[in-house]
Amino acid sequence: MAGVSHASAQQQGESAPNRGERLFESHCSACHQYDDQGMGEAPPLEDSPWVVGPSERLVRILLHGITGRIELGGRVYDREMPGFGRILSDTDVAALATYTRSRFGADEPPVTPAEVKRTRDQHAGRTAYWPADELLELR
Ligand code: HEC
Repeated sequence: MAGVSHASAQQQGESAPNRGERLFESHCSACHQYDDQGMGEAPPLEDSPWVVGPSERLVRILLHGITGRIELGGRVYDREMPGFGRILSDTDVAALATYTRSRFGADEPPVTPAEVKRTRDQHAGRTAYWPADELLELR
């Protein structure tokens, strides 16, 4: 599946920002309430320390998922989110992370496919979701 969308993206010469936005709309917005439907039960992404902090936090979330207590926007969440590491390529995760970070307030350089690959390789075989508080220890 990822391979198919990958190929068509290349055929259309899609730019990385457009790809990031398209992936965000199809994989994130429903749960995180950016589809104008109000269906999501997931925490907000604006200025979240998991989004605007060190990029490795977001890359790990996208690859492996996240669980545990999260306090954001005056609310407490204690739920779980599955990762996308099995269906998205390093290029897709990089485009998605770069788009998400710039849309929601990170003033940082783009996330590269090489960075995603490094994190993926370091945690090859991981199936557990990341505990939210453990990600905050990443600097
Ligand atoms: C199935 C619903 C669902 C989908 C799809 C989903 N998330 Fe989540 N996400 C959640 C939930 C629920 C949490 C809270 C987990 C917890 O309480 O520990 C969360 C937490 C997060 C967090 C950390 C907390 C915060 O709000 O900053 C980030 C960052 C995040 N998601 C980004 C994304 C991105 C980017 C995508 C698209 C690739 C995505 N999520 C797709 C449900 C989802």
